[in-house]
Amino acid sequence: MQDFSFYNPTRIEFGAGKIASLDQLVPASAHVLVLYGGESARRTGTLDEVTAALGQRKVQLFGGIEPNPSFETLMEAVDLVRRNNIDFLLAVGGGSVIDGTKFVAAAALFEGDPWEILLSMGQNIEKALSFGTVLTLPATGSEMNQGSVITRKLLQAKLPFKSERVYPRFSVLDPVKTYTLPARQVANGVVDAFVHVMEQYLTYPAQAPVQDRFAEGLLQTLIEIGPKALAEPQDYQTRASLMWTATLALNGLIGAGVPQDWATHMLGHELTALHHLDHAQTLAVVLPEMLRQRKASKLGKLVQYAERVWNIHQGSDDHKAEAAIECTRDFFESVGVKTRLGDYGLGTEHIDGIIASLEKHGMVALGEHDDVTPALCRRVLLASL
Ligand code: NZQ
Ligand code: ZN
Repeated sequence: MQDFSFYNPTRIEFGAGKIASLDQLVPASAHVLVLYGGESARRTGTLDEVTAALGQRKVQLFGGIEPNPSFETLMEAVDLVRRNNIDFLLAVGGGSVIDGTKFVAAAALFEGDPWEILLSMGQNIEKALSFGTVLTLPATGSEMNQGSVITRKLLQAKLPFKSERVYPRFSVLDPVKTYTLPARQVANGVVDAFVHVMEQYLTYPAQAPVQDRFAEGLLQTLIEIGPKALAEPQDYQTRASLMWTATLALNGLIGAGVPQDWATHMLGHELTALHHLDHAQTLAVVLPEMLRQRKASKLGKLVQYAERVWNIHQGSDDHKAEAAIECTRDFFESVGVKTRLGDYGLGTEHIDGIIASLEKHGMVALGEHDDVTPALCRRVLLASL
C-alpha cells in the first residue's frame, strides 16, 4: 500500500423522506440559491419538496444546468450569486448539477477569470461558498467527492478540476427520488459507477487487499443489482443499494493508497466534448479496448478480476484476461449501454479529431504508468469501432 491522506467531510443523510432534514442541515440564516437542471426536478415535485423544507429562509432558484454542465450557463449563476450576496448553494439533481454547483461555489469567490480554475485543475481555488446536495441520480459520486467536470462549449473542451474546498457539506440521498429516472440514465449510472471502481482497481497489484476486496464487492454488487434496478424501478432496496454503491465507488475510500488509472475517463471526455455522447456511453466504448491494449501491464489485476469478479478459473492467464474483458463488455450491453463507436454514428474519420483534442488538452501521458500516449489512445479507438 502507498502512503496516503484521506479526508472526506461530507455528511450523508440517507433514506426515504430525508429531504425534510434540510431544515437542520442548512444554516437558519442562509440566503440560499437552489440550483437544478432541466425540468425533471420540478416535474417530479422534488423542487417543491426542497423549497418547503427550507421554510422561511430566503431562497432563490437557478434552473437550466444542462447534462455536461457548461461554463457558459454556470457563469450566469455566478453572476446571480455575486449580485444577490447569496451565501449558501443547494444542488438538486444528478452529477451535472452537483458538478456545476461546485464550480459556482468556487467561481463566485474567485479573483480573476474563473476559467483559470479549470486550467489549474482546481489548484488555484483558495475559497468557495458552502453548499449541500440533494441527489436524484446515482452515478458519479460527486455527492461525496471533491471532483467536478466542466464543459466550455465555445472551446469544445470538457475538463476536470478538484479541490478540498468543494466537498459538499452534506448530501441527501433518498432512493425514492430515483424512481422517475429514464432507463437510459439508470443504465448510465450503473456503467459510470462500475468504471469508477475499475479506474481505481484495475491497475497493478499494490499489496492493498482491503481496497481490492472493497472494489470487488462494489463491482459484484453492480453486476447483481444493475439489471434489477432497470427491471424493477420502484424496488426500494435495489435502488438504495445502487445509490450507496455509486457513492462509495468514488468517495475516495477505495482509491486511497492505491495506484489509479483514469485514462478511460480522460479519453471519454473528449468523445463527449466533440460528439456529445453521454458520459457513461463513452466509458462503455473505451474501457474494454483500453484494458485489452494494455493487457500486458495490467495482466496481474486482470487475472484477479477474472477470477474474483467473474469466476473465471479455467485456462491461461491470457485467456482469463480476455474472457473478463468480454464479460465486462457484455455486462454494459446487457444493461443497454452500447460499446462500439459505430453504435453512436462514429467511424474512422472521427479519430484524428479526437486525438488532436486529447493532445490540445495535454492528455498525453495518462494512466497509472503515465504511458497512455495519444498513439495508444488511437489504437484503442480503432479497436472500438
Ligand atoms: O436536466 P434534468 O431535466 O434534471 O434531467 C436530468 C438529465 O437530463 C435527468 N435526471 C436526473 N435526475 C432525474 C432525472 N430524470 C428523471 N428523474 C430524476 N430523478 O438525467 C439526465 C442526466 O443527468 P446528469 O446529471 O447529466 O447525469 P449524471 O449524474 O450521470 O452526471 C454526468 C456528469 O457528471 C460528470 C460527467 O462527466 C457528466 O458531466 N462526472 C462527474 C464526476 C465527479 N464529479 O466526480 C465523476 C464522473 O466520472 C463524471 O465525469
Ligand atoms: Zn465517470
